[in-house]
Amino acid sequence: MPSRLDPEPVPRRDVLGLAGLWAAGVAIFGSIIGMLRLPKPSVLPEAGKRFRIGRPEEFPPGTKKVIPDQKVLVVAEAGGIAAISMICPHLGCVVSRIGDEGFSCPCHGSKFGRDGDVAAGPSPKALSWLEVTRAVDGRLVVNTAREVEPGTYYSV
Ligand code: FES
Repeated sequence: MPSRLDPEPVPRRDVLGLAGLWAAGVAIFGSIIGMLRLPKPSVLPEAGKRFRIGRPEEFPPGTKKVIPDQKVLVVAEAGGIAAISMICPHLGCVVSRIGDEGFSCPCHGSKFGRDGDVAAGPSPKALSWLEVTRAVDGRLVVNTAREVEPGTYYSV
């Protein structure tokens, strides 16, 4: 006769049921943590850097030149030269140009106008315009650490 102090054996079906409940609980908890982290970019921003893009004569008005290694589009107008970052503000993918009409992000489908303004989400903001200056040797320098107002051209 079993004593009151002896535990009753747990049926195998109950053990499997409890294990299933634990697994479902862990999965739901992990999903909730994942959803809470989703709005935050998981890409660490690169440290800002300065790089030379060339002499002003290399960028006559009307020029639009991608500097692939730097992920920057250099735009030259009659009023000067500007640099637009090609890093998507959503999660940091590199956008590609859609002809002369703007940019498109391959990761989540954001679309940007020719000046980098958001045409379709999920990007929360426009592409950054970057500071352009001139080095002592006369060449143009783009500084990715310093954003400027969209539409700001460096006069040459
Ligand atoms: S990284 Fe998500 S839309 Fe560009």
